[in-house]
Amino acid sequence: MNTEGIVTAAYIAATILFILALGGLSNQETARRGNWYGIVGMGIALVATILGVVERHYEILLIALVIGGSIGLVLARRVQMTQMPELVAILHSLVGLAAVAVGFANFMDPSVHFEGVELTIHDIETYLGILIGAVTFSGSVIAFGKLSGRIGGKPLLLPARHWLNLGLLIAAIWFGREFVVQSAAGDGMTPLIIMTVVALLFGIHMVMAIGGADMPVVVSMLNSYSGWAASATGFMLSNDLLIVTGALVGSSGAILSYIMCRAMNRKFLNVIAGGFGTGGGTAAAGGDEDGEIVAVDASETAEMLVNAKEVMIIPGYGMAVAQAQHTVFEITKTLREKGVNVRFGIHPVAGRMPGHMNVLLAEAKVPYDIVFEMDEINDDFPDVDVSVVIGANDIVNPSAQEVPDSPIAGMPVLECWKGKTTIVLKRSMATGYAGVQNPLFFKENTRMLFGDAKDSLDEVLKAL
Ligand code: TAP
Repeated sequence: MNTEGIVTAAYIAATILFILALGGLSNQETARRGNWYGIVGMGIALVATILGVVERHYEILLIALVIGGSIGLVLARRVQMTQMPELVAILHSLVGLAAVAVGFANFMDPSVHFEGVELTIHDIETYLGILIGAVTFSGSVIAFGKLSGRIGGKPLLLPARHWLNLGLLIAAIWFGREFVVQSAAGDGMTPLIIMTVVALLFGIHMVMAIGGADMPVVVSMLNSYSGWAASATGFMLSNDLLIVTGALVGSSGAILSYIMCRAMNRKFLNVIAGGFGTGGGTAAAGGDEDGEIVAVDASETAEMLVNAKEVMIIPGYGMAVAQAQHTVFEITKTLREKGVNVRFGIHPVAGRMPGHMNVLLAEAKVPYDIVFEMDEINDDFPDVDVSVVIGANDIVNPSAQEVPDSPIAGMPVLECWKGKTTIVLKRSMATGYAGVQNPLFFKENTRMLFGDAKDSLDEVLKAL
């Protein structure tokens, strides 16, 4: 039987399924199907590799599969939706660790012996795989620590930290050259180990410098790194599927990081350089507080809602904090029964992780067809009677358009102030993530409903 041919065919099938999986994940309605494509693709890849590529030591493989698979299953079952980024971070660290382990194993006991240029190329692949793997590993462990609160969210800003990073980079390049030269002479372990330590330190230092709230961008960047580490490992092992899969993960992670940075109007390099997003952001800094604040209570809010024809709900980070999504859905249902057209407007970086609001609304069973992306509904606000801003702040801040030197200048925002009335639910006049005051709160057609979003909405629901 031509095993090689069957393995290749299986790898192509798996690759196609992985691409379909990524395509499916781009839309809520097809996300479930996308997940299934990924699961089947990974199943095919595992079976083809175990039966077609592995030749001996099946018992070790089986034990490892059972242990790893069981830990994964238990963790994924136990994890809360809010801990998802932590789980993703720690899983990336395992990809990095695997790349380092495979790199060292392959260097110490290569199955194929190369010479001349081929040896140099193979050495560079090994070196890069271990380098990226080690950065991914230590960076992801720190990201996990920060997200789970085991390490403080404040950025650690060492003096001359950019120079330190540059020094570590130059050291990694220099030891790379040493490694290639020494490996040709049958040695090279020392520079390889030194580089691994340097890469581990770099990963720790890089993520320690990034503020808690910027973590989602860093997690998606580490996701991208883990892909490139896998890809380099694929080159080292001459495994086409690993190369392609790694490249898919690497490029999709990079695109996601880019999209998130663009939606936050941050430069990717600034996020990586660190120092921003020191966490909470509660001091009311700056701002044009030239208007008056008009507070309303729950029954007035309920009254405005039943009298409206078009309602737009804009959820933000505060809805996640208050866990108000279920009450939001109950209110939506009640209003729809009364003939009010209720829609949701979702900003790409509302909350603190990609798709944060979509996940919460899906959990509360809000139908997908009334949930819209910012670009789809931003022009509709002049026709909206009441916009309800639930624990959102930066994503509805007009100063992004009006104040050129604002930290959020240029960030696209939901233009709810163009509607007839906006009701903002929050606990105080505190600022959001970016730490800037919001002129929306002082506009003539804005009403403030102060209090925890869940408590306020429970009262609104009762009044309805
Ligand atoms: P924020 O600008 O952070 O505003 C959230 C508001 O919710 C706060 O002003 C807070 O005001 C209020 N709040 C908190 N807890 C509440 C509760 N229990 N009940 C009612 N209100 C509560 O959030 P946003 O508008 O969603 O914007 C997201 C921000 O995070 C953007 O600046 C974005 O760039 C950034 N960011 C996003 C991501 C991703 S990927 N989504 C990643 C990193 C950073 P009070 O304290 O007065 O209640």
